[in-house]
Amino acid sequence: VSRPGESPPTHLFLHASQVVTCRAARDAEVLTDAAVAVRDGRILTLGPAAALAAAHPDARRVECAGRVLTPGLIDSHTHAVFGRWRADEYALRARGVPYMEIARRGGGINASVRDLRQRSEDELVELTRQRLAPMLELGTTTVEIKSGYGLGTEDELKMLRVVRRLQEEGPLDLVPTFLGGHETPPDYRDRKDEYVELVAEEMIPAVAAEGLARFCDVFMEPGVFDARQTRRMLEAGLRHGLTPKLHADELEPSGGAELAAALGAASADHLGRVSEAGIRALAGSDTVATLLPATLFFLGRKEYAPARRLLEAGATVALASDFNPGSSPSPSLPLAMTIACSQMGMDPLEALVAATRGGARALRLPHDAGTLSPGAAADLVLWDTADYREIPYRYGVRLARHVWKRGRKVV
Ligand code: NIG
Ligand code: FE
Repeated sequence: VSRPGESPPTHLFLHASQVVTCRAARDAEVLTDAAVAVRDGRILTLGPAAALAAAHPDARRVECAGRVLTPGLIDSHTHAVFGRWRADEYALRARGVPYMEIARRGGGINASVRDLRQRSEDELVELTRQRLAPMLELGTTTVEIKSGYGLGTEDELKMLRVVRRLQEEGPLDLVPTFLGGHETPPDYRDRKDEYVELVAEEMIPAVAAEGLARFCDVFMEPGVFDARQTRRMLEAGLRHGLTPKLHADELEPSGGAELAAALGAASADHLGRVSEAGIRALAGSDTVATLLPATLFFLGRKEYAPARRLLEAGATVALASDFNPGSSPSPSLPLAMTIACSQMGMDPLEALVAATRGGARALRLPHDAGTLSPGAAADLVLWDTADYREIPYRYGVRLARHVWKRGRKVV
């Protein structure tokens, strides 16, 4: 801590086995004999260790002791505010009842809605704080969080206020997304279009008036919201300054990726069943393809998103956890990386870049976010391995040893 008038100290991260910049999935971005200089919560510079040590003789040294140093992971898709867990549904699915059938029986998202409506904002702050702690310990330093278990104006605002309060508390950076279009709530059964109007005409203006969200998302899927309803909600969001995101082509193909690209969405998420036209649309746009393989794994699906075809077409790919009580109860982004490598043919460096820079792009964070570059926030993870490929490979254990958020050690 520096006194006023004094320049803040420089910290020099030395002796990492590898410094992985995550600027691109290229071997040249895996630096050896490199050091990272940090000042005032930002990366000052990185480069050859001997040169940096000579240039900063008075810097405080952070000993990396032959471990891997990377940017903090950026989890760009979660539903981390919720009440109870839903292991009852997990047990049903294990006996063969599909996710959408459980939803039709009144479980699924609406089970979380009924539960969340009973809980106070304070209670949800407490529950969410407990659920974010393991994310940080697993190496995640920025988390997007969606509303969507309130599905009424007051309860949606309550969820987003929880996110705002936890953002103020730190140390994680939280990015709020309004997801009133997550499902039709029980009180609007058989009145789906009326609910869509409520989202567009009442909820979105209320959320925007309080500055509670950056993005507006919709779960577009056969049986949930169709293209017309999705467009209505996302365009209302745009008019109020909320950038679109979209749960697209998760379980059935329905043109979600194409719609996301046409609306200039920040991301199209899931894409388990994206079409060829959808792949081309994403590749030709700024819309990031956000893949959530832990969800498809947990739901027992055998088919994953076509990561290779997306990458080869030139789309920007992000990996996220989809952390939620129904379809993805793991807070681990390294686990999503493992599934990406084992099931979708991504290589470990592509997976790491997708979980850092890719997530930053999906959240439209400032240009160098999610990378180690001069000027980027000093969000760093030191991993308990000498080889970054072990981050997805040694799955099921925690490899993140220390985490820094804006230059401050938080784990
Ligand atoms: O991304 N797809 C919709 N929303 C979540 C599931 C939420 C839930 O089941 O509670 C998802 O998988
Ligand atoms: Fe989701």
